[in-house]
Amino acid sequence: MRPSTMAFAMVENYNPKQIAGRRAAEMVQSNSVVGLGTGSTVFFVLTRLAERIQEEGLVVTAVATSIDTEIKAEEMGIPLVSLDEVESIDLCIDGADEIDGEFQMIKGGGGALLREKVVASISKREVIVVGPEKVVPRLGTTFSLPVEVVPFARPLMARRIRPFGADPTLRMTEEGSPFLTDNGNEILDCHFPDGIQDPAALELALDAIPGIVESGLFINLAHAVVIGYPDGRCEVREKA
Ligand code: A5P
Repeated sequence: MRPSTMAFAMVENYNPKQIAGRRAAEMVQSNSVVGLGTGSTVFFVLTRLAERIQEEGLVVTAVATSIDTEIKAEEMGIPLVSLDEVESIDLCIDGADEIDGEFQMIKGGGGALLREKVVASISKREVIVVGPEKVVPRLGTTFSLPVEVVPFARPLMARRIRPFGADPTLRMTEEGSPFLTDNGNEILDCHFPDGIQDPAALELALDAIPGIVESGLFINLAHAVVIGYPDGRCEVREKA
C-alpha cells in the first residue's frame, strides 16, 4: 500500500456513532436525571455511561425512551426509574434520523418517536448524537417521516396524509406483519419526494388529525448536536 493510501485508510477508521455517543455521555453530571434515547448511536452513550458509573462512581437516575433501551440499560447496570417518578429531566441524549440547520429533526427510525418526544418535552436539555450523514439542509430528503397511527384508523390516516405531498407506506417486520411500536400502534413511513418545506407547520397539521398519535417531526426540542466523524473528530454545535 502506498503511504498516502495507508494514511487515508487509517484516518477513516472510526465509527462516527461511537465517537458522538461517547462524547455526549461525558456531558452527564453526577446526581442528575438523564433521559436515555433509543438507537444504535445511543447504544454508545449507554456503554460510556455504564463505564463512568463503574469507574468514577457517577450517580445518575435514568429514564428510558423505549423497551429496547430499558433492557440494554438494565443489562449495563444503569439505574432506571419510570417517567412518573421524575418531575423533569436534566439532560436527555438521543439519536436522530435527520437534523437540519435549525436543529429540527426527523426521528422514529426505530419506532420510539412517541416516548422519545414525551421525554424530550420534559428535558431541560436535549443533546442529539449523530454521524455527519444525518445533518441535512432540508428534512425529508434522505429519510421518510415516521408517523405513529392507531391501527384502527390506519388506512384512513394514509389517505389523510397523502394531500400533504407524502407517499405513506406501512412499516412491516421482517416476518411480514405490521411493525408495532412499544405503545401497540403502527407506523406509516411517509416519503416526501421534494423534502419537507415547512416542518413546523406540517407537525402541527399532522398532530391535529384524530388517529395520528405522533409524528416523527421534532421541532424546537434539541439544544445541541454532537457530530462524530469517520476520521475520529467530534463537533459539538449549540443551538443559537
Ligand atoms: C428511534 O425511534 C429513533 O428516533 C432513533 O433515535 C433514530 O432512528 C436514530 O437511530 P440510530 O442512532 O440507530 O441511527
